[in-house]
Amino acid sequence: HRARFTLDPDFTVGPVDPRLYGSFVEHLGRCVHTGIHEPGHPAADAEGLRTDVLELVRELGVTVIRYPGGNFVSGHRWEDSVGPVAERPRRLDVAWRSTESHRFGLSEFMAFLRKLGPRTEPMMALNLGTRGVMEAMELVEYANHPGGTALSDRRVAHGDKEPFGIRMWCLGNEMDGPWQTGYRTAEEYGRLAARTARALRQIDPGLELVACGSSGRDLPTFAAWEATVLAETYDVVDHVSLHAYYEETDGDRDSFLASAEHMDVFIREVLATCDHVAARLKSPKRLTLSFDEWNVWYQRRPDPHPVEDWQEAPRLLEDVYTVTDAVVVGSLLITLLRHADRIAVACLAQLVNVIAPIMTEPGGPAWRQTTFFPFAQASRYGRGTVLDVRVTSPTHRTEKYGEVPLLHATAVRGEDGTLTVFAVNRDRHAPLRLDVALRGLDLVRVVEHSALADADPEARNTLEAPDRVVPHRVTGTVLDEGVLHALLEPMSWNVIRLA
Ligand code: AHR
Repeated sequence: HRARFTLDPDFTVGPVDPRLYGSFVEHLGRCVHTGIHEPGHPAADAEGLRTDVLELVRELGVTVIRYPGGNFVSGHRWEDSVGPVAERPRRLDVAWRSTESHRFGLSEFMAFLRKLGPRTEPMMALNLGTRGVMEAMELVEYANHPGGTALSDRRVAHGDKEPFGIRMWCLGNEMDGPWQTGYRTAEEYGRLAARTARALRQIDPGLELVACGSSGRDLPTFAAWEATVLAETYDVVDHVSLHAYYEETDGDRDSFLASAEHMDVFIREVLATCDHVAARLKSPKRLTLSFDEWNVWYQRRPDPHPVEDWQEAPRLLEDVYTVTDAVVVGSLLITLLRHADRIAVACLAQLVNVIAPIMTEPGGPAWRQTTFFPFAQASRYGRGTVLDVRVTSPTHRTEKYGEVPLLHATAVRGEDGTLTVFAVNRDRHAPLRLDVALRGLDLVRVVEHSALADADPEARNTLEAPDRVVPHRVTGTVLDEGVLHALLEPMSWNVIRLA
């Protein structure tokens, strides 16, 4: 098998917004409690943050973290999560049938971000399920106003003298989903989101606001939801959200490996809907997308840790990812990059323990899941400008998506002129030869070809064997007379760097 494409710096998709490499921390299961926060753990710092996890999050290269939900936020009162920890109430979290202690809240989250370093910014989700305009305004005032008002002074009294300066706000979470506490029709939500957005802009016109799009392309309301919501909110929001989770069903691995085809169509359809609304409104403004939840998630598998209701930090959604899942995550990243011109933010859901690239054991170690690697490599090397990649590739038939190319690829040119090719071979059985013609790029050598692939498609990293799956170096990849030649192993994620 042989696939090819041509790269030319004159043909670009657009610059990569670093916020494409975001993640998500929800009060769900053990993402917060015993995930990022575990007072008493041997690696915990004075604030109870696990320094072993902080180190892995830094290595992962996360640029944005969405917080505090997810479904959790639609039953959440933000006031519960601030002030002296001992006085914070314990409450039912009806979304996940758990008990929330609020030992970790807004101030602790901001401290966590500060410890990650200046390059990770918050993205707060507002509760528009069971609350409304006033509570959203109050939270923004508490978080962002410098001082001299009741709410901002309350923040100062709570120990946070400096305003948090949170720029990005999600106007609710998955408001189209019948599972969402207080879910709404598109008309109801559109009006509420527009009113909330206008009120928040009265506080600060510079906020970046995200309207809830669909929680999935397969929902019956998809596209009509976006059209209705955006008709109300178009002028006052910056982004519309998309959520997508993929899993293998009925042993159909070839379709699973082609999940990025679904993501690609989903993105195109949401953009078409946005632009349709722009046309109707005769608006020159163009919205961008916030793909603020995406990942592989085995929703149809029975939970390996059945738990009783109303536990604190139960083991929920602790998917253990295989090398196959990592290849799919890599190809989803490729699709996000291929749409860099219209994607402003994307968040891998979630960060720790809950469908996450990082796992921890209470009182024990933290380790990288297989999916950690494609994300970390994309975040590290996928910065700059995405080049327009038009692939010529052999194809194969899949049950869900019909005929799909075996090669899925993109390329990013760094500001220093270096180039990184990200490529997935979807063929489970045969290697794929790749030839990339490089025009006008002034590249002289292959710096590294790294691959994630394994003879065992089920190979995974666990507490007992945390380093079973790691990327390996591939030899034999060469640059010869302006053409890059590489061999992509069967079912593999590849990062080829050139300088
Ligand atoms: O990420 C897990 C859940 O998936 C989130 O809480 C929700 O927004 C989505 O349905």
